Order: sequence, then structure tokens, then C-alpha cells
Amino acid sequence: MTTEQKYEVAKRLNISELSEEEILTLLQETPNKDCGDVSLPCFKLAKVMRKSPVVIAEEIKNSFKTDETITKCEAVNGYLNFYFNTGKITETLINKILKEENNFGNSNEGEGKTICMDYSSINIAKPFHIGHLFTTVLGGSLYKIYKKLGYNPIGINHLGDWGTQFGKLIVAFKKWSSLELLNEKGMDNLLEIYVKFHKEAETHPELNDEARHYFKLIEDGDSEVTELFNLFKKITLEEVKKVYDRLNIEFDSYNGESFYNDKMDAVIKELEEKNLLVESEGAKVVDLEEYGMPPCLILKKDGATLYATRDLACAFYRKKTYDFYKNLYIVAYQQNLHFKQVFKVIDLMGYKWANDCVHIPFGMVSLEDGAMSTREGKVVLLRDALNRAAEKSLEKITEKNPNLQNKEEVAEQVGVGAVIFSTLYNNRIKDFVFSYDKVLNFDGETGPYVQYTNARINSIMEKIGTVNYSDADFSSLDNEDAENLVATLNQFQDTLRAVLNKYEPSFLSRYLVKLSQNFNKFYLTNRIVGEEKGVLTARYMLIKAVHIVIVEGLRLLGIEAPMKM
Ligand code: ARG
Repeated sequence: MTTEQKYEVAKRLNISELSEEEILTLLQETPNKDCGDVSLPCFKLAKVMRKSPVVIAEEIKNSFKTDETITKCEAVNGYLNFYFNTGKITETLINKILKEENNFGNSNEGEGKTICMDYSSINIAKPFHIGHLFTTVLGGSLYKIYKKLGYNPIGINHLGDWGTQFGKLIVAFKKWSSLELLNEKGMDNLLEIYVKFHKEAETHPELNDEARHYFKLIEDGDSEVTELFNLFKKITLEEVKKVYDRLNIEFDSYNGESFYNDKMDAVIKELEEKNLLVESEGAKVVDLEEYGMPPCLILKKDGATLYATRDLACAFYRKKTYDFYKNLYIVAYQQNLHFKQVFKVIDLMGYKWANDCVHIPFGMVSLEDGAMSTREGKVVLLRDALNRAAEKSLEKITEKNPNLQNKEEVAEQVGVGAVIFSTLYNNRIKDFVFSYDKVLNFDGETGPYVQYTNARINSIMEKIGTVNYSDADFSSLDNEDAENLVATLNQFQDTLRAVLNKYEPSFLSRYLVKLSQNFNKFYLTNRIVGEEKGVLTARYMLIKAVHIVIVEGLRLLGIEAPMKM
């Protein structure tokens, strides 16, 4: 049973006691194909209609009009079973996919709904490391799927660009770097001097006083340090944007923490007016004891604002600017409490839209291959992990297909694709141990397996050349493997809805593995090349539809689909 079939039945049933919505909730999957495709148990109806379920089923059956699409309606022991003409559905579906191509699965159900999405949200002058993988690819994929279903997503990289560490960085820069060095070595230089600062500060604690002094200058808007600070920001963004390009990630806004510097006063004032701010050891907090949480810190003793203060101002800004339908934060589970507190404070201020703010947590990523992992506190840069995956995939491709043209390009698509796919194959809340060999396995439940299936379909299509769609004999798809494959194609849009419902792109990656497996099964029992025209054309059309859905599905995960590999 697909959602389309359910809607089709609900639309046709005319039961005066029930709305179409209510009927939808009652419709069920049948235990097997011998009982049709969709079933309506009449037991709950018995109460409202004051008749026995058997009588109700019989009556509805008698008034139901069958046609080309729903060919049969049957009443059995208080159940109504509806039979769809699968041959007709197959033909209609395949034609639809071939006509719509990558627009297949699009919908306008999200029209007029803006979704703010906070993901990746890197910290300036800090390494962009493997720990950022989840939030980045998770957000990137949800963003594309929201768009596909007609929503208006706003991708926001809430930069960590405020805090005392920037004072440290300026001290470090002045002591151990220069504009020439920085321009030459970029991000690597920033990381290097930042590490050096911490080492030196152990024996020269006065460096910390200097850092505080410079941070104060940033706060006061001193032009020289502000310029430097902006340069650090530019260098970091240039570096991360290279990685975003490889991962096919985009953003609509880079408004980070510093953007809210002048927007917090209003919130603090409102908190005060609403009697929500209390003093606690000199600091100002919102007491959340009643809700089983520690207090939410708003102002430190010295009057400095905090991470939560910025996030409050930020939520108000987003509501005012975008009038969001939902405001999503794709941030590691370590920040569960932080977001619970922030949302609760908004709620206590009396704003119902606190309920539209959602924290989407996820687990941690680590590397199985110890050789590259945290050596002397050194983190694994995302850039290096992607490079390594691309190198390994190049080795594999060279071994499997030494004559392949543009090997490097394909290796990048496969290597990076493998990293994204495996991250999004994992149930997001689970911690994830990353192994290059596992994610690059061409036969496992991996990105390369799906990409390889697509390349295989492509080579079959190439071998066949052009066909004339009007020659197709769809009765040649009247077998179990073909029907399973068609049924899977039919679940594409529902899968995308399920992804958004649970914020879980793994439903899509799993779907693509299933689609690939079902294609491979189909191709084992359904010969194509060498068959007579009618059969060949129908099967060609089916595999082309699979190709279209795989390419589009991969795109929605941020993964490219090489035609040959
Ligand atoms: N930069 C933060 C971190 O690395 C994540 C920011 C998440 N977004 C937010 N609005 N708090 O932990």
C-alpha cells in the first residue's frame, strides 16, 4: 500500500459519518496481495453507524464504483479490501518518472512554510574537523529535501565568532605571525599560533591578561583589531567553503554569534519586564528549577552575555525576519540541555512559537583507523578525511577499472560520496565509528554500491541505444521482481516525507540501498539486451526510471552519481 493508494481510496469512499481525514487514519495495509492492496476494517465504524461491521462492509461494497485503477472491492468478515490494477499503476508510474525526470517526487505541500535550519555552525579560527560531519551533511540533506517538497528552507551557519579566544588569537598573531605568513599559510597558520598561545600561556600567564585586553578592544570596536578579526573570519570561511563545495552544502546566511551583539539588550529588557530575571551570585539567570533544569545564565557577574543570551536574541531575530514555521537546530546531543533551556525561556516569556523550535541532536563521529585520529590532541580535519577517502577510492577504481577516463574526478565523487552516505546511513542519534574500508566497500550497504548500481544501469542503457517508448509491452513486467522494483519506486515521495517527519535522512539512504538491491534482483531474472522489442522497451523504461530516482535520491543526500566507475 502506498500513500497515493490510500488517498485514492479515501477520496472515493463516501461515508457521511466520517471525514476523509478520519477514513485515512483507518485504512490499513493488507496482510498479502491476495487480499488486495488497501483494507478498511469496519469495526470502529460500527459504533458510529450502529450496525454490525459485516453489514457496513457489505453496504459500502455495494455502492463502491470500480474502474480501471481500482478494479475490485470486496467485503470479507467486516473488512473491505480494495484491489488496484498494478499493471496500470506500473505503466502510469514509469511514464510519470520518465516525463518528470529529476522533478519526480516534487510536491508543493510545504508551500508558504519557512524552515529555519541551523547546521554546521562552525567556530571561527578553530579546526573544521570530523566532529562537524554529522551536522553538516544532515543539515545539507534536510535542506534539499525541504526544498523538494515545496518548503522554503533557510540554511543558517550560526558562526561561533565571538568570545575571549579571539583576544588570544590577536595576541598570538602579533607575536608569532604576520600578514604575509597568514596570507600564505591561511587556516593552518591560525591553528598553529592558537596552539602555540596555549602552550606559552602555561608558563607565561600574563599572556591571558593581554588577550583580555585585546578582546575588550574588539568589543569596543577598535578599528585595527576589528580588521584583524575580520581577516581571521575571512580566512576560516574560505577554507570551510572549499569543504562545503565538495559536500554540496549551501547556506543562505552566515549570521553568527557576533551578529547578535546589538540585539540582546531588547531580550534582556523584556526578560526583566516579565520578571523572569533573578540574581544568583551576582549573575542574572532565569530560574528553571520548577522544570527540572539548572538556571539559564543570561548575564555574567561582569555584565558579559553568554551563549544562551545570544541564542535567545537569535531565535527572536529569526522569528521576526523569517516568520518561520519551524526553527531547527542541528547540533550534537551534548547541547540537549542548552536548547531545552533556551526554548523554555521563550515559552516562559509567553511565546507559543517556542513549540516550533526543535533541537535535532545526533551522535559523535570517530575514526576506526587510529593512525589518523587524535594524535597528541590533534583532531582529524574534515578536509583530510575527505582526501583520504578519495585517495583510497582512487586505488580501488584503478584496480577495478584501470582504463576508466577521468579517474580522479570519479574517485572524488565516490570517496566523498562514501563518507556522506555512511554518515547518513546511521541512525542519527547513534555514535558512529568511521572505517574507510567499510564505507568504500562496493558490495556492502554503501554509497559506492548505490553509485555502482547506477553506473551499471547506465551501461545497460548505453548498450541498448535508443528505444521508442510506444513499443513498450508492460505485461512483460508482470513478475514478482519487477513488481517489487516498481513498488519501491512508488515509495520515493513517501520516503522523503518520512525523512522530514523524523529528521532522519537515513530513511532515504536505506531506501536507495533497497532500490539498488531490488534492481539487482530484477536484472537477474529479467533479461533486457537481446529480448524482443516490446519486452526490451518496457524493461529499458523501468531501469531508466530507477536510474532517475537513484540520481535524484543521491543528490538529495549531497552525493554525485558518476555515469561510469
Ligand atoms: N558553534 C557551536 C558549536 O560548535 C554550535 C552552534 C549551534 N547553533 C546555535 N544556534 N547555538 O558548538
